[in-house]
Amino acid sequence: MRTQVLIIGAGPSGLLLGQLLHKAGVANLIVERQTGDYVLGRIRAGVLEQTTVDLLDEAGVGTRMHAEGLVHHGFELMFDGQRHHIDLSRLTGGKSVMVYGQTEVTRDLMEARAAVGEQTLYSASDVELFGFDGDQPGARCTVDGERITILCDYIAGCDGYHGVSRASVPASAIKTHEKVYPFGWLGVLSDTPPVSHELIYGRHERGFTLCSMRSPTRSRYYLQVPLSEQVGDWSDERFWNELRARMDPEAAAALVTGPSLEKSIAPLRSFVAEPMRFGRLFLAGDAAHIVPPTGAKGLNLAASDVRYLSQAFIEHYREKSEAGIEHYSARCLSRIWKAERFSWWFTSLMHNLPNEPEIDAKLHRAELDYLVGSDAAKAAMAENYVGLPV
Ligand code: APR
Ligand code: PHB
Repeated sequence: MRTQVLIIGAGPSGLLLGQLLHKAGVANLIVERQTGDYVLGRIRAGVLEQTTVDLLDEAGVGTRMHAEGLVHHGFELMFDGQRHHIDLSRLTGGKSVMVYGQTEVTRDLMEARAAVGEQTLYSASDVELFGFDGDQPGARCTVDGERITILCDYIAGCDGYHGVSRASVPASAIKTHEKVYPFGWLGVLSDTPPVSHELIYGRHERGFTLCSMRSPTRSRYYLQVPLSEQVGDWSDERFWNELRARMDPEAAAALVTGPSLEKSIAPLRSFVAEPMRFGRLFLAGDAAHIVPPTGAKGLNLAASDVRYLSQAFIEHYREKSEAGIEHYSARCLSRIWKAERFSWWFTSLMHNLPNEPEIDAKLHRAELDYLVGSDAAKAAMAENYVGLPV
């Protein structure tokens, strides 16, 4: 088989890249290790920056997002039993974010790809990349028991943190930076109305809390838990009681509980791999970087990588220009490091560490106090939350 751009991974990065390339007439093929249903079973964050919304529109997959997504003009910070409104639109000259789950973004992209007849090889095992440091890259993989070879001009490694693409790069050519946080997020999805019409990020001596949503009837809540916790030890009742204990009295009274549809614990990590291009292999999305979820930058960063990568390929094929290809890694990393900084800062501010010295807790408390009392500090937070320019 032969294609122009071979995409490894059919998560949001790979699917969005495929759709943008299809629109521009660039041939592409996606190879995915899992089944489509498995990919859709993963539940992740759900806050889209305006530039991500714009890119999804450009890819022609925005219709359901605009119909069902919730435009949010602000969020709330909760600490010391009180909530403080962060008015994103006022602080950023009218910007907002879109609350629309990553699962739905992925579903829309999968349906759009099927509708235009572009090919995705699902359940492809033992994917092996070759030749990306020379002129003839490609991949071998096993599909339906048969070993196949795919030749291409370029490989886009969109295969997430555990994928084969980053792992195929010689160790001497790549540098990785990593910070693992000493706590996790226990998440619950439930068909209950959200406790507030805006997201609430809470700091509490019992741990961080996030009250989020997927729709007016579906809520998503998270609790900071020690990494040693087992999800099996958290009955629904225990989860709701702990959530209530970390809320201000008004929110605690308003909380509507119900059976969980999903419950899982996710670790928190900051990770960046540099550079993001190795000859004819390009990394994009979680394959190159991970942010802790506080601030929901993961999918948005994946989208900005894909924006730059699709532009680079389109410039190459249409205008015979290599500029986008040459600058891909530096363009991405400049935006990524700023989002890594924001996600690390917001995580550090809102969580308490095991055995945290009292002075650290006091300093965080003072920073929160400063933040909610200063328009300058709030504006800095808001411009990062709605997304820095692409
Ligand atoms: N071969 C083929 N496909 C693979 C391989 C492999 N060896 N390894 C992994 N994959 C697939 C995974 O099964 C997955 O479907 O690559 C896909 C990667 O998808 P994601 O992990 O969702 O990564 P990405 O598309 O970059 O999306 C980034 O996901 O984790 C969130 O916060 C993150 O929202 C961001 C988004
Ligand atoms: C979510 O809804 O899952 C979500 C929202 C905001 C975050 C993280 C996760 O910062």
